[in-house]
Amino acid sequence: MKFLIYTVILLTILAVNPLAVSATLPPAYEGRGLYVSYCQLCHGISGKGDGPLAKAMKITPANLTTTVRSRSDAILIKIITGKGRQTITGRDRHNLLSDAMPEWKDIFNESQLMSLIAYLRFLGNTKHDLMGDPKAGLQIYQKYCQVCHGVEGDGDGIMTKLMGIMPMDHTNKNETSRLNNNDLVKSILDGKGRFMPAWRGILSQSDVEALVSYIRLLSH
Ligand code: HEC
Ligand code: HEC
Repeated sequence: MKFLIYTVILLTILAVNPLAVSATLPPAYEGRGLYVSYCQLCHGISGKGDGPLAKAMKITPANLTTTVRSRSDAILIKIITGKGRQTITGRDRHNLLSDAMPEWKDIFNESQLMSLIAYLRFLGNTKHDLMGDPKAGLQIYQKYCQVCHGVEGDGDGIMTKLMGIMPMDHTNKNETSRLNNNDLVKSILDGKGRFMPAWRGILSQSDVEALVSYIRLLSH
């Protein structure tokens, strides 16, 4: 009997566990969460190496928006985890970095590492900065947008077949990056074509800015 009760409790916990949902979240979105907790103190929120701790450091934290472009995933994993990194006289053998960059051994699992790298790639590639809080953006997106734009943001929502419409695929970088942040804000507030609704009056300016940031991360 006790066993049965415990099983039911366990199943209930599993059923409401938000981790189950996070499996479909965009990697760069997940990566940003980790980056904010572990990296921005030195590298800065924009990745330019200007975090609050940077001034106090002898060796300046790298400007990740330029350096990571030329690094493979394998090298980035080495740099972040420190695994396989060999420092000789204070610098590693590829002369990439000193021990001023902490070693995050066993802190991140493989999928977290790939998410972090996805966010570093976003920082290195994007032409458009994040303008609002993507966490708030995710919640508003799930509430108002995914019926048409899809759970994954690829334009494949439950309403699309019903209405015979083709919402923008927000996971396609080529489609979203040709629009600047203000274009996106305007389309969301005022609508687009016959079937993209106008959200002015329903969503605030900061809601829309949060949405734009979430949409940017969806394509990385
Ligand atoms: C305590 C400050 C500090 C923290 C926290 C920190 N870093 Fe660094 N990081 C540095 C410094 C300093 C360097 C430059 C080292 C050098 O040039 O010798 C660096 C270099 C790097 C580089 C190499 C850049 C390149 O390509 O040449 C990467 C990648 C990097 N950090 C990623 C991260 C990530 C990801 C996190 C979070 C998980 C993080 N760092 C957290 C200080 C920090
Ligand atoms: C009723 C279905 C529907 C809903 C709900 C919906 N959209 Fe759309 N959306 C569309 C369609 C259809 C298009 C393509 C419009 C066109 O290009 O004619 C579109 C296009 C867009 C575009 C591209 C605009 C441009 O300038 O090309 C953005 C950005 C967008 N939607 C964001 C959102 C956001 C954010 C939400 C939630 C607040 C949302 N949409 C909710 C149907 C929808």
